[in-house]
Order: sequence, then C-alpha cells, then structure tokens
Amino acid sequence: MKTISITLILAFGVFAEPPRAFNSLCSYLEEEKETVSSLGNTKKCFARYMPELENEGSTWAQGYSGCQKSATSERQSMLTNASEAQEKIREAALSMSSYIDQCLTLTEPMDFFHCFARMSKLQLTNVYNISFNASEQALILNQKLGTIEVEHYLCTNQTEHDYVQGTDKIFRSLDQCLQQIATN
Ligand SMILES: *[C@@H]1O[C@H](CO)[C@@H](O)[C@H](O)[C@H]1NC(C)=O
Ligand SMILES: *[C@@H]1O[C@H](CO)[C@@H](O)[C@H](O)[C@H]1NC(C)=O
Ligand SMILES: *[C@@H]1O[C@H](CO)[C@@H](O)[C@H](O)[C@H]1NC(C)=O
Ligand SMILES: *[C@@H]1O[C@H](CO)[C@@H](O)[C@H](O)[C@H]1NC(C)=O
Repeated sequence: MKTISITLILAFGVFAEPPRAFNSLCSYLEEEKETVSSLGNTKKCFARYMPELENEGSTWAQGYSGCQKSATSERQSMLTNASEAQEKIREAALSMSSYIDQCLTLTEPMDFFHCFARMSKLQLTNVYNISFNASEQALILNQKLGTIEVEHYLCTNQTEHDYVQGTDKIFRSLDQCLQQIATN
C-alpha cells in the first residue's frame, strides 16, 4: 500500500509537469524539420537515456525495499529482546498468582490468615518490582519504536532524494541531446 502510494507520488513528482525533454521533442516535431536521419538521432537519444532512467527506478526500488527490510528486522530484534523482560515479569506474576492460589486452598483459618499475612511482606515488593520493570520496558519500547521510525523516514527520504536528483540529471541530458538535434 505504502509502496504504491509513494510510487505514485514519485511518478507525479517526475511527470506532473511534462519533462522538458518531452517539450523539446514536441516543439522539434512541430517544426516539421524532421528528416529520417534526425528522427534516427532522436531515437538514439531515447535509447541512450531511457535505460538510465530505468536504472534509477530500480535503484530506488532496491533502496526503498532495503529501508523496509531494515526497519522490519530492527522491530523484530527489539521484540525479541523485549521478550526476555516479558518472560521475567510473567514468571514473577505467575509465582505471585500461585502463592495466592495456594493460600486460597487452605481451609484452616489460622493457616489461611498466616498465608495472606506473609503475602504482604513477601509479595508486595514483587508487585512494585513488576510494576517498575513493566513501566521501564514500556518506555524503552516506545523510545526504540520512535527511533526506528525516524531511521526509516530518513532512509526512504534519502532514497527518494537520490531518485529525484538522478532522474532530473538524466532528463537534462536527454533534453540537451534532443536540443542538439533540433539545432543541427
Ligand atoms: C537487542 O539486544 C542486543 C544485545 O543485547 C543489542 O545489541 C541490540 O541492539 C538490541 N536490539 C534492539 C532493537 O534493541
Ligand atoms: C526487574 O528488572 C531487574 C533489573 O533488570 C531484574 O533483575 C528483575 O529480575 C526484574 N524483575 C521482574 C519481575 O521483571
Ligand atoms: C526486582 O527484583 C530483582 C530480584 O528479584 C532485583 O534484582 C531488582 O533489582 C528488582 N528491581 C527493582 C526495580 O526493584
Ligand atoms: C527529506 O528530503 C528533502 C528533499 O529530498 C530534504 O529537503 C529534507 O531535508 C529531507 N528531510 C530530512 C529530515 O532529512
């Protein structure tokens, strides 16, 4: 989806105004000065510069997919790293949960009360530990996601910048090539 819309934006960016090369081709043809040999030269201009344009296009596609891949793999690595902390918190929470479950099974009132009385001291630090670690992890994940997004933006922006500059240079050369024929 994103690839398609960006491709469209680029296509519009490049073709929104008719490239000067096409303008000069049109005025050149309108002047009706074309001869078989000058048309042959026109074809030579296109034959020379069209592959370069295609090349720019495939460089852009490769760059763009590289940006996507690195963002995806960084996200994956971040989630893999986070799963360790997640597992620790899960274990801590489960141990509390099983402590409570075990207290709940006690039918003898004295055992029951003692069990829950001990819980406050033992488990409360655990609750704060879980809460503290969980807040910290959420903050870290959020920051890392932000960093990955910024990196991804810079990567695609650079790729687009290179593409626009590259095609602009080729269009200028093509334009020049066509104008040389027109004036000869
Ligand atoms: C994942 O952890 C490794 C080693 O701790 C670290 O080098 C890497 O940068 C981490 N990746 C992310 C995305 O946080
Ligand atoms: C909380 O984080 C500390 C330090 O990283 C770690 O030693 C501890 O096991 C963690 N505890 C829980 C419940 O996640
Ligand atoms: C959480 O408990 C672990 C040991 O179970 C300890 O190493 C860690 O420092 C504690 N973290 C906090 C934030 O108290
Ligand atoms: C993105 O690219 C444009 C032009 O291609 C440039 O002017 C702008 O500074 C770039 N933005 C960033 C954040 O690099």
